[in-house]
Amino acid sequence: MRRLPRTHLGNPVLRKKAKPIPLRDIATENFQRLVTQMFFTMRKVGGVGLAAPQIGKPIQLAVIEVKKTPTRPRIVPLEPTVIINPRILSHSRELLNDWEGCLSFPNARGLVPRYRTIRVSYFDRFGDKQVKTLRGFQARVFQHEIDHLNGLIYVDKMVDMRTLTVLGEFKKRFLKKGGLNSR
Ligand code: NI
Repeated sequence: MRRLPRTHLGNPVLRKKAKPIPLRDIATENFQRLVTQMFFTMRKVGGVGLAAPQIGKPIQLAVIEVKKTPTRPRIVPLEPTVIINPRILSHSRELLNDWEGCLSFPNARGLVPRYRTIRVSYFDRFGDKQVKTLRGFQARVFQHEIDHLNGLIYVDKMVDMRTLTVLGEFKKRFLKKGGLNSR
């Protein structure tokens, strides 16, 4: 299998509002192949999430998979998850600040406030509706990917642009201290 070509900051598809996916499309061979290719691409490039606009498709689809790594030792893992037509139903008032990066904006990190807890609905790759409550890093990844489906990049959600950091500096300054939920 080959990686899907990715889009990067500046490509207008990343700024479009993605279209809802007709549920009858989910079971088709083409759609299922796309999902498999998105997981493959995300794993190859070491991401924890990949939204369809990031591979040039303005449709409401994203894949997420979170594993524990040496730089994310305290993370609660998340099994491979397909989110289709997601909605944030409710969220905590409390925000948590943590570092984020994005496959569409390589070699940068920034501090982004996200809701600590969210309740979301979405359809999975079998077309079944799911309603879940997510916390911490899992909630952060969902918010990041759902933002992609609304044409938003994490830098849009930063409140202090002075924390925007080049990856090399980030690794030197923050990563080796360990335990940060960086990605
Ligand atoms: Ni991203």
